[in-house]
Amino acid sequence: MNNILVTGASGQLGSEIQHLSKDYSQYEFFFTDVAELDITNLEKVREFCSTNQIKTIINCAAYTAVDKAEEQTGICDAVNHIATINLSTVAKELNIKFIHTSTDYVFNGKNHVPFKENDLTDPINVYGKTKLLGEQAMIDINPKHSIIIRTSWVYSTYGNNFVKTMLKLAETRELLTIIADQVGSPTYAYDLAKTILEILPKVNNDQVEVYHYSNEGICSWYDFAFEIFHQTNTNCKVLPIETKDYPTAAERPSYSVMNKSKIKNTFDIEIPHWKTSLSNCLKKL
Ligand SMILES: NC(=O)c1ccc[n+]([C@@H]2O[C@H](COP(=O)([O-])OP(=O)(O)OC[C@H]3O[C@@H](n4cnc5c(N)ncnc54)[C@H](OP(=O)(O)O)[C@@H]3O)[C@@H](O)[C@H]2O)c1
Repeated sequence: MNNILVTGASGQLGSEIQHLSKDYSQYEFFFTDVAELDITNLEKVREFCSTNQIKTIINCAAYTAVDKAEEQTGICDAVNHIATINLSTVAKELNIKFIHTSTDYVFNGKNHVPFKENDLTDPINVYGKTKLLGEQAMIDINPKHSIIIRTSWVYSTYGNNFVKTMLKLAETRELLTIIADQVGSPTYAYDLAKTILEILPKVNNDQVEVYHYSNEGICSWYDFAFEIFHQTNTNCKVLPIETKDYPTAAERPSYSVMNKSKIKNTFDIEIPHWKTSLSNCLKKL
């Protein structure tokens, strides 16, 4: 049996993989979150993988509170960096395929064309820095048949995210001001989860490879909010504002669009446009 460990399984991406797992009966899934398996503990990871004869790890666990991370640097580093060392180490020792997830925030946002996998990384906040350290450690340890998938602006029917926040705010507000000078591509976690499960058998590289995945298309947070209200016929006005008018603890890249040609060409996949995927998600909410 091909045993798959999914870490961070109660998060957005992990929950979507759980939801899809019924269609992948060729695998036996072990869904864990911090209560069942704290990935910052190397011995526990080693013991879990060895006892359960894990053949693949999909790491959906992360510290994703971007603003809080500016203060909680220790815990953020432990989950995003040290735990990636742990998982990579055990994957290498036990010959486990390791699918790790990372972020567009490893870039500084100063591009004007979509970032490619090999473009210079230069994170501008603690979250991005710790995710980059995790990536670099994994590349150094180099477990076989392992990949890093960077994604961006993740939302789903699970957990907290921009789509749910907008809908919640619109219940009590007639007008929202939303940042229009940060541009990126939303990712419906369901689409990424499906892609991970589809490409899994084809991941055979000897050196760790990095891929970019988001939905197709580009938008600002303002465009995203506007489209959420448009598709749900919500009566809430959206006004564009600049980043400087909405100060946050963590700085965010102004342009974080990623080039997805590599993952599309390597695995021969098609990626839905963000407006189509938003509609699919809204139907379930
Ligand atoms: N969310 C985004 O907008 C976004 C954007 C770009 C990239 N990404 C990346 O995409 C991936 C999936 O993100 P997501 O949105 O699904 O994240 P998420 O919803 O925040 O889920 C992460 C999960 O990991 C768990 N976790 C935290 N510390 C752990 C530990 N020590 N051991 C085991 N589990 C632990 C969390 O539990 P608690 O909730 O109890 O802490 C949570 O259930 C991550 O690699 C993330 O960095 C996300």
